[in-house]
Amino acid sequence: MPNRSVYVCQQCGTAAPKWSGQCAECGAWNTLVETVLPGGGRKARAGASRSGAGGGAASSAGAARVEPIAGVSSAEAERLPSGIGEVDRVLGGGFVPGSIVLLGGDPGIGKSTLLLQLAARLARAGASVLYVTGEESSRQVRGRAERVGAVVDGLSLLATTELESAVDIIASTHPALAVVDSVQTLASADLGGPAGSVGQVREVASRLAEVAKAGTTCVALVGHVTKEGTVAGPRTLEHLVDAVIYLEGERLGATRLIRAAKNRYGSTDEVGVLEMRGDGLVEVPDASRFFIESEQPPVAGSAVTIALEGTRPLAVEIQALVAPAGYGSPRRATTGIDTNRVLMLIAVLARHAGLNLTGHDVYVNVAGGLRIEEPAADLAVAAALASSLRERPVRSGTVLAGELALSGRLRAATRGERRLAEARRLGFDQLITGPARDGTAAPSRRATSDGVQLASDLRTALQLALEE
Ligand code: TYD
Ligand code: MG
Repeated sequence: MPNRSVYVCQQCGTAAPKWSGQCAECGAWNTLVETVLPGGGRKARAGASRSGAGGGAASSAGAARVEPIAGVSSAEAERLPSGIGEVDRVLGGGFVPGSIVLLGGDPGIGKSTLLLQLAARLARAGASVLYVTGEESSRQVRGRAERVGAVVDGLSLLATTELESAVDIIASTHPALAVVDSVQTLASADLGGPAGSVGQVREVASRLAEVAKAGTTCVALVGHVTKEGTVAGPRTLEHLVDAVIYLEGERLGATRLIRAAKNRYGSTDEVGVLEMRGDGLVEVPDASRFFIESEQPPVAGSAVTIALEGTRPLAVEIQALVAPAGYGSPRRATTGIDTNRVLMLIAVLARHAGLNLTGHDVYVNVAGGLRIEEPAADLAVAAALASSLRERPVRSGTVLAGELALSGRLRAATRGERRLAEARRLGFDQLITGPARDGTAAPSRRATSDGVQLASDLRTALQLALEE
């Protein structure tokens, strides 16, 4: 049977019968890549996986079967704890047999390292584990394994870029865990298009999902996230897998956060904190204390907030340095926080707290390599800036959490109770925050008995924070 070509957009996955410079669906330029569809039976299968049916159930059981819902067992197969608590917390207790997990992240962030460590832990606990490497040679994987202490019995390597051989070996050896590194380097011989193209990447994921569901193997699939998504990345795969876990962090820093973007078997609110060391990724013992570098006695230019990563509260130190600017326009540089948000806070400080930074260079840094997105950090950033400018430290034992409006008004951070509880647990005795959104017209400042200081505007909050 003759093969047929379609042109698949590498951005959105839409197939077009003819090549053109621009994708008709998503409007991206130069993203169509010729993909040969095989003739005959394989075409139907390729079609099925493309539609995102998730494959699996029907194909493995032969004919589909109708069963009464009451007769379906809801008992979950016993999970395989990974042995790394911070990872299990995100997975929801461990790997689920017969499921497929996608581990996404930037190249070089530590995906292979993490999975090799997990593979070794499971193998050491007696499980059979297969590590399929399409990206590196067996020798390279062995080198890394020596570094992280993963040369153990029960862990086998398969170096291949052929999807079919990986699937066959998983189906015939039934490992408890199969790591596949990476979705971008494996390709099906049945399908045209180079490894890493949208069609191939989806085929790899759906065939692996099928083989996982047909047995009790848990497949952990690595996927590189690319900057603009022109090469198919995890985002085109999310619906094909049971869980999507991202490993994040600044490449040069050592901190890594692991979080679930999707999890059929657990919550997506959990965050795990790991640290990259010379011998692999290690758990951070008390993660919540990890992002504070505070010195005693407190120094000027530093303020602590309680950030919520998902539902997990983390104490985070914001550091600011304000220094007289030289010629030209002053510099504003930030790490770990949006520069535009800091520019806004600088303007609010000038207008509503009488702190003019026009003639100053401003640097803001979030300690520990964390990235903060939530506006609840506003008050701590403003306090760190004010503290640096006035050369006066924030009162010791104080944390700040609140969102600032352009008017200089302060609002409580969401889920204040959780933040307060964490602040107390870590030994802070004062939380400065704003009135709740539904708050009735409050006096400009009020202290409650439990160590919470409510301030309704920035000026008042800074007075409380800087001991004036
Ligand atoms: P790697 O797991 O290869 O990243 P990915 O698979 O996500 O592309 O990790 C690569 C980086 O991690 C590399 O820059 C070296 C560093 N690294 C350590 O710092 N310590 C270690 O023990 C290992 C194995 C790697
Ligand atoms: Mg890798």
